[in-house]
Amino acid sequence: MTRAKGKHFIKTFGCQMNVYDSERMGEALTEAGYVSTDTPESADLVILNTCHIREKAAEKVYSELGRLKQIKKARQSQGQSTTIAVAGCVAQAEGREILLRAPVVDLVVGPQSYHRLGDLMSRTGSEQGGIIDIDFPEDDKFKHLPARSKVSHAPSAFLTVQEGCDKFCTFCVVPYTRGVEYSRPVREIVEEAERLVQSGVSEITLLGQNVNAYHGDGGCGETRSLAQLLRVLAKIPELQRLRYTTSHPRDMSEDLITLHGEEEKLMPYLHLPFQAGSDRILAAMNRKHTRDEYLELVQRIRAARPDIALSTDIIVGFPGETDEEFARTLEVVQHVEFAQSYSFKFSARPGTPAAAMDDQLPEEVKSTRLQELQAVLKKQQEAFNLSCVGKSIRVLMERPGRREGQLVGRSPYLQAVHADGDKSLIGRMIEVEIISAGPNSLEADIVNTSISDVIAAE
Ligand code: SAH
Ligand code: SF4
Ligand code: F3S
Repeated sequence: MTRAKGKHFIKTFGCQMNVYDSERMGEALTEAGYVSTDTPESADLVILNTCHIREKAAEKVYSELGRLKQIKKARQSQGQSTTIAVAGCVAQAEGREILLRAPVVDLVVGPQSYHRLGDLMSRTGSEQGGIIDIDFPEDDKFKHLPARSKVSHAPSAFLTVQEGCDKFCTFCVVPYTRGVEYSRPVREIVEEAERLVQSGVSEITLLGQNVNAYHGDGGCGETRSLAQLLRVLAKIPELQRLRYTTSHPRDMSEDLITLHGEEEKLMPYLHLPFQAGSDRILAAMNRKHTRDEYLELVQRIRAARPDIALSTDIIVGFPGETDEEFARTLEVVQHVEFAQSYSFKFSARPGTPAAAMDDQLPEEVKSTRLQELQAVLKKQQEAFNLSCVGKSIRVLMERPGRREGQLVGRSPYLQAVHADGDKSLIGRMIEVEIISAGPNSLEADIVNTSISDVIAAE
């Protein structure tokens, strides 16, 4: 057996894509001879996988680096060295600036260079002043990362199928931090999905910044859409559930909408950001759709799958947004009734067109609007959760709950469901009856534990 090179600790900020990337980085480091550890104090290599989407998210990195500086010092006094790496979207956006602002950092590595982590690590220590790798390589990183490990996975897994974004919404840093839109070939995705399923995964969420703009190589020179990819994946027998996120309203094709009414494995949940309800603001955001187009889309999706749970992202206080324009956002929310949502105060991000616009709004205006909006969204979420009480639904049990004897799983509508049951049920699809609902989760009684077998036999 080769001796381990050391222990690594990865802390993840930001979106699901970073969660996925952290998992892949962990696997690449295992391949390079590292083992994982649970605390930064015990780690020889600490990686912060960072998010640049809003100012608050980006600033978190520096407070975290302050803490790591102390840990590095304490370890040094015991004769242990610590390598500190900043990965992810802040790494891509700020590059060398990170080394200048936080000299404790040894390595800055952008989201497209994770396959080179092992190499980069072997260079740290021998080069002065920190190492930076934030190129957008011609060659795609997925080809070079080791295959997904077969060690057992949680029952639900993420799988990135599309990365980057060409939409350039005026408020958003993603096109700059993740680069141009890229879709992975169908075969590569199917192989990864099969490996995940072999290691115990029953539910896969396909990820992309614009996942429904997916157009990957189908193998014979033709491209495949997200709907076509989902159809192929649904054929994997032991794979029981499919989800995808995040979708752009402009890329919601008829084929994909139809699939929601046809494919049992495709869960009745859709995250469909609308950002703002005023057409003037939507145009200034460069969202390339109007309020009515969004509402009409919602109608078509609900016609295809009446019980679908809709979720969204909303920004309040975009430059120049008036009270009347904000009221249009509230109207859309009242009209659609969302099962879940994420809402944010506009944050001016360096280098984006919206940051340079006149009429930036005061913080208090943004805060008041956000509070008003979130009160409405919270009521809608509670109402949706309450509407599930008394229903029998299938839950994929994912992990033990906080209380002894309690399990936590997900409903088809992505709600967290708590039920008392034996740990052996983790990883299984079971039938429960919902007995009560809170703002963020459901309580249930287990009705039938043999659903997995029924599905397998069908
Ligand atoms: N690709 C997705 C969104 C990715 S970013 C889409 O197009 O819908 C996730 C969410 O963060 C966005 O939907 C938006 O609501 C929010 N967001 C992005 N940039 C922001 C900014 N500068 N200020 C506030 N919220 C922002
Ligand atoms: Fe950002 Fe717009 Fe692209 Fe979404 S579609 S990642 S909000 S630029
Ligand atoms: Fe944040 Fe980058 Fe995701 S900026 S939201 S981690 S794509």
